[in-house]
Amino acid sequence: MGAIERRSLKQRAARLFGQWGVFFKGFLDEPRMVGSIIPSSRFTIEKMLGPVKWDECKLFVEYGPGVGTFCQPVLDRLPRDGKLIVIDTNPLYIDYLKKHFRDSRFSAVHGSAADVEAIVEAHGHEHADYVLSGLPFSTLPDGVGPEIAAATYRVIRPGGAFLVYQFSAKARDYMARHFERIESGFEALNILPCQLFWGWKEPRD
Ligand SMILES: C[S@@+](CC[C@H](N)C(=O)[O-])C[C@H]1O[C@@H](n2cnc3c(N)ncnc32)[C@H](O)[C@@H]1O
Repeated sequence: MGAIERRSLKQRAARLFGQWGVFFKGFLDEPRMVGSIIPSSRFTIEKMLGPVKWDECKLFVEYGPGVGTFCQPVLDRLPRDGKLIVIDTNPLYIDYLKKHFRDSRFSAVHGSAADVEAIVEAHGHEHADYVLSGLPFSTLPDGVGPEIAAATYRVIRPGGAFLVYQFSAKARDYMARHFERIESGFEALNILPCQLFWGWKEPRD
């Protein structure tokens, strides 16, 4: 291996551990809100984003981006006139994302997913096409999960979807109260293996 390749490998390792270090610090500060010590795997990302119709996506919203594991894959697929709004309660993660993602289509908001409707409106949109969630629904404070599922259903346009990955199936119960059709999947190549759900809001006739 040449000197340049060695340097680039070291830079990549430093970037990786830097990102994981920030994620782990966020976990130590708020274990129940973060719910995981390691970001999602690329296998989870690929599978979760698979059903999205990107050519119909003007606004993509993500809850609980952490250090942005999904952000670049979403930006890579999003149309040039699309927008990605990410919402996280942890200011450490929001500061990190604002520093590391300079794409003009990207906005990082410090706040709760429960306030998604006000956040979407404040950014000049009526609806989101897709909402992605990495929230640990089973350890969120009482009542927060159902409140987020209800607000998410209202904010998504007919024909759009709520994409959820989680270690437990808790989120599915909350989604089932609102979304007309739910598809399920599983990704073993993740720490820990996780459940995937796509909640579809049926198009209007
Ligand atoms: C499991 S981590 C997500 C990790 C990341 N998306 C990934 O794929 O690696 C859960 C995230 O949800 C955030 N969170 C918890 N409650 C929230 C809420 N009510 N609204 C927005 N974000 C929240 C936490 O701060 C944390 O960043």
